[in-house]
Amino acid sequence: MPAMIEVEGLLKRFGQTAAVNDVSFDVAEGELFGLLGPNGAGKTTTVRMLTGLVRPTSGRASVAGCDVVHGRQAMLREIGVVFELPALYPRLSVEENLHLARALHGAPRTNVEDAIGRLGLEPYRQRQVRSLSKGWRQRTMVARALVSRPKVLFLDEPTSGLDPNAARLLHDVLRSLRQEGVTMLLTTHDMVEAAQLCDRVGILSQGKLVALDTPAHLIAAQQGRRVRIRWWEGGSLREAAVPLDDAGAPELLLRVLSQHQVLQIDTTGTLDDVYRRLTSGEEA
Ligand SMILES: Nc1ncnc2c1ncn2[C@@H]1O[C@H](COP(=O)(O)OP(=O)(O)O)[C@@H](O)[C@H]1O
Ligand SMILES: [Mg+2]
Repeated sequence: MPAMIEVEGLLKRFGQTAAVNDVSFDVAEGELFGLLGPNGAGKTTTVRMLTGLVRPTSGRASVAGCDVVHGRQAMLREIGVVFELPALYPRLSVEENLHLARALHGAPRTNVEDAIGRLGLEPYRQRQVRSLSKGWRQRTMVARALVSRPKVLFLDEPTSGLDPNAARLLHDVLRSLRQEGVTMLLTTHDMVEAAQLCDRVGILSQGKLVALDTPAHLIAAQQGRRVRIRWWEGGSLREAAVPLDDAGAPELLLRVLSQHQVLQIDTTGTLDDVYRRLTSGEEA
C-alpha cells in the first residue's frame, strides 16, 4: 500500500531547542497511526507541520502525495484536522458551522447531512455551539473535519477531557472511518486508547521518535517470556510478574493456580509499561 503520510528527517527549532528532532515515519493508506508522548514531546508541533500550519526548519514531509511546504494548497484540500484549539464559531449553530466548512471546500450539501448523521448530531444541529458540552463540541469539530471527505484526518488529542462514554463514541467513529479507508493520525496520552485503536504507534520523547511499531510488537519486545498474576492468599492480594525462564516459575504458578483464587493472569504487559520506560523522567 502506498504511504499517505511520509515524514523524513523532520526538524523544527524554536530558538535553540529542537521541538521535533529528526523524526521519520510513514503512515500507510487506511492506517490509523498514533503519535504518543508526554507534554512537550513535540506531538502538536509535528501535527502542525504535517497540516501546513508551521514550516519545518529542515527535513521533508508529504501528505496524500503533496509536499507539506511546496504542495501546501493541494495538500489542504485532502486533509481534515481536529485540534485542541477551538475551531468553531461559538455563536453559530452546529449546522451553520458545518455549512461554513463545507462551503470553504466547495463540497456538496449532502456531506453536511452525512457528517451530522455519523456523529449523532441530529438533536443538536440548531444549537449554538457555545451552548454545547465539551463532548458535543468535540463531535461537532470532528463532523466539521469530515464535511470535505478528507483522505487523511489529523486529530490532536481528540479525546482529552472527554468522559469515557464520549471517548468510546469517538473511537467508534474513528473505527468506522478506518473501515472506509480514511488514513488517520491521532495524538494521545491515553495508552489504553492507543493500544485498542491504533494499527501502529510512534512514541515521541523530547522531540525524538524513540519507538515505532504495532502496540503488540512493542509490548512483546519489552515483556519477553513473562506472566503477570494476581491472586488472593491469606486474606491479602498478592501480585507477581513471573519470568517463565526462571527455575522456580512452574512451581510458583502451579501452586497459585491450584490453591488460590486467581484474579488475573496474563502474558502481556501494557503499552503503558513501554511508554513509561521510554519516556521516564519527563513531564507526564
Ligand atoms: N510556537 C512555539 N514557540 C516556542 N516554543 C514552542 C512553540 N510551540 C511549541 N513549543 C515548544 O516545543 C516543544 C514541543 O511542544 P508541543 O509540540 O506542543 O508538544 P506536545 O504536543 O507533545 O505536548 C515544547 O517544549 C514547547 O514548549
Ligand atoms: Mg500537544
